[in-house]
Amino acid sequence: MDVGLDAVVAAETVLSHVDGQAGRLVLRGFDLEELAGRRSYEAVLALLWQGFAPVDDIAAALGRARVEAFRILEPRLPALDGLTPIEAVRGGLALLADAEAKPHHLLATAAASVLAAAASRRAAGRPALAPDPALGHAADFLRMLRGDAPSAAHARALDTYLVTIADHGLNASTFAARVIASTRAGMLSALVGGVCALKGPLHGGAPGPVLDMLDAIGDSESIEPWLTGALERGDRLMGFGHRVYRVRDPRADVLKRVVTELRGETNRIRFAEAVEATAIRLLAQRKQGRGLDTNVEFYTALLLEALALPRDLFTAVFAVGRIGGWAAHVLEQEQSRRIIRPQSAYVGPLPQRAA
Ligand code: ACO
Repeated sequence: MDVGLDAVVAAETVLSHVDGQAGRLVLRGFDLEELAGRRSYEAVLALLWQGFAPVDDIAAALGRARVEAFRILEPRLPALDGLTPIEAVRGGLALLADAEAKPHHLLATAAASVLAAAASRRAAGRPALAPDPALGHAADFLRMLRGDAPSAAHARALDTYLVTIADHGLNASTFAARVIASTRAGMLSALVGGVCALKGPLHGGAPGPVLDMLDAIGDSESIEPWLTGALERGDRLMGFGHRVYRVRDPRADVLKRVVTELRGETNRIRFAEAVEATAIRLLAQRKQGRGLDTNVEFYTALLLEALALPRDLFTAVFAVGRIGGWAAHVLEQEQSRRIIRPQSAYVGPLPQRAA
């Protein structure tokens, strides 16, 4: 038995490869570092979806899909009031009918951004804003959220973030989506499953808690005692450790560069670096040989904070980027005819007579 399925290879994929020993992420033949900052999110979607769906002028198609998603979902938004943004993405995708507005990989990718922005605005008592199909996906998300077109620097920073997190092998949410796809339940159901799995703090829910941790530590003198106390209580340090990486997550460095360009050498980055260094040292002392290092969520938190996004939106923004990767995996999984159905080891009571 392999409880966490660590050693199980459950799918062949052409989409992405995570080399945990080398700290390398390959997206369809490109190292992440080649794509981040050089290709737009739309271009990376075209890369991922190529061979599975039409990819001509994805930017225009995605713009039109945002308009269509808003047309369908705007009347349904009141049903999502009171939910957090990630819950609203989950709920809003679930409100789409299987018979509605195909192709669903495009509609749902567009819908995630529309829903996340709309939920955040409505929670603040402001009306949802219609998309501008002429803008890039990242820029339009920021505009739907804030009301004004973002600066080129902000749009580029979010675009690089979306590229960085677009796909990542058979992580928990992608696996969940592929399991659902293998039952032939359809794209929308599989993507809702992906959102549900992403939401957990051990997966995509970590960046908000990373900032909570930095706030709770407060100042440089408190770093070591605070982290030591957390580890002694058995807490997990958010933004550290990974199932596959035994070295630093390459996405952390890409995002750190983006944050530094955005903010300059601000105190918060210096403070975060000091927390990071101490956390890695303490984790190495306590979990010798495991190679616990910084993961993508640590600098995600700092980047999304630098973009002035509210903390409760962070996981939803992760979903806005990752949904394109899930969609690619669902399209790939749908080419397989075999349902994913592992076995369990029964450890319950022996059969008895009912009467
Ligand atoms: N803080 C403290 N201890 C940790 C951490 C951490 N961040 N990560 C792992 N450990 C401990 C585990 O508790 C385990 O201890 P044990 O052997 O005494 O039980 C040991 O280190 C080894 O654990 P792993 O097998 O490396 O961890 P696993 O693969 O099961 O979990 C996970 C990976 C869930 C990401 C874990 O590292 C974690 O909880 N990190 C904090 C949450 C986080 O940052 N999540 C985002 C991950 S990135 C992403 O999903 C996009």
